[in-house]
Amino acid sequence: GRLLSFLRAPQDLGDTRSYLYESDGGLLIKDGLIIACGAYDKVSAQAPADARSVDHRPHLIMPGFIDMHLHFPQMQVIASYAANLLEWLNTYTFPEECRFVESDHAQRIAGHFYDELVRHGTTTAVAYCSVHKTSADAFFAEALKRNMRMVGGKVMMDRNAPQGLLDTPQMGYDETRQIISEWHGKGRNHVAITPRFAITSTPAQMEATQALAREFPDLHIQTHLSENHDEITFTCELYPEAIDYTDIYARYGLLGDKTLFGHCIHLSDREADAMSEAGSVAVHCPTSNLFLGSGIFPLKSLARRQKPVRIGVATDIGGGSSYSMLRTMDEAYKIQQLLGERLNPLESYYCMTLGNARSLSLADRIGTLDVGSDADIVVLNAAATPAMALKMEVVKTLPEELFLLQTMGDDRAIVETYVAGVAAKSAI
Ligand code: GUN
Ligand code: FE
Repeated sequence: GRLLSFLRAPQDLGDTRSYLYESDGGLLIKDGLIIACGAYDKVSAQAPADARSVDHRPHLIMPGFIDMHLHFPQMQVIASYAANLLEWLNTYTFPEECRFVESDHAQRIAGHFYDELVRHGTTTAVAYCSVHKTSADAFFAEALKRNMRMVGGKVMMDRNAPQGLLDTPQMGYDETRQIISEWHGKGRNHVAITPRFAITSTPAQMEATQALAREFPDLHIQTHLSENHDEITFTCELYPEAIDYTDIYARYGLLGDKTLFGHCIHLSDREADAMSEAGSVAVHCPTSNLFLGSGIFPLKSLARRQKPVRIGVATDIGGGSSYSMLRTMDEAYKIQQLLGERLNPLESYYCMTLGNARSLSLADRIGTLDVGSDADIVVLNAAATPAMALKMEVVKTLPEELFLLQTMGDDRAIVETYVAGVAAKSAI
């Protein structure tokens, strides 16, 4: 089939040196890794005689998509009719997450969770579990079973939520440590330290989080930052000594280059500077920001500042409304349009693959088709529906094809998803 893999961030739509494209390409996969990538003739000459071959012509073969922020226990929260973030959390989300104390329920939803990711071409995701250890156990056990590279953590939350969703600073610390020792590095699992957000953690819990971050400096940290105006006001009331929302996390040592901050819509210049200096990542969740009416994320202006902020892109299921990274980048594009900014299709596909891999500091393993990488791969069909096929008749260039896939594509455009070299979508 045709191969597309990014080498670096594209400068503009004509930046053909930012990616590798093979119109007649091949990949050789062994033991879950890509061991050759390039022109079909050259790659097939290296293949052993007993190699099994799969022909994906005329489709487009890319590194599997990476979703940098979503909530495993919110599969049944999607499409909840709320006015804003805090109402949505209190009315729908918190009650639903209470159900994950039951391991039967957590296991059943975990099966559906990975099915949906794979159906949508997502091979790595960074997830929040519920406060219950049972939810993290179900999340990581299922990832291990499917041999997927996943990042996740039990949320720590000890106030401003129903009783069934509260831990304590000690419990959050102990259970997170337990989850790290049971799951981190097992299969392709990565544990992330996950304080939900400042509203639901007391200063004592933030201190416990800081202790975890010090003990495990290589782990990712994930939380929410600056999503909604009422959220920001309430947060700053809870931490009056901090100069702004970002400073709360900084005061507890949580502003570093392994920290992934969901949303970051309403940052001040000072906050963006602080994020940039720390190397923290702002994770854009476009369908969620629109669905909850949270605001317009200034992606392009954050990325081109004098002090640029590292960017990730994500679905934020269940505040987000689609599992598809194609749908997600379509909405990201429209948000930049409202700001008079252009997000070109090369940049979009870079973001979903190598860009997110870099923002996760995992680009040596995922996000490209480079030799030595994990064989996590998506195969795309830009003529997946009658309307797409009709438009494809007049599409002439690769960027046009990518843009069509992003604008009209969803799970129907995913021909196959390979996880560690194994066809996973067709196996569902
Ligand atoms: N802030 C704190 N928790 C959440 C959550 O579950 N979803 C979103 N979108 N924002 C949050
Ligand atoms: Fe979120």
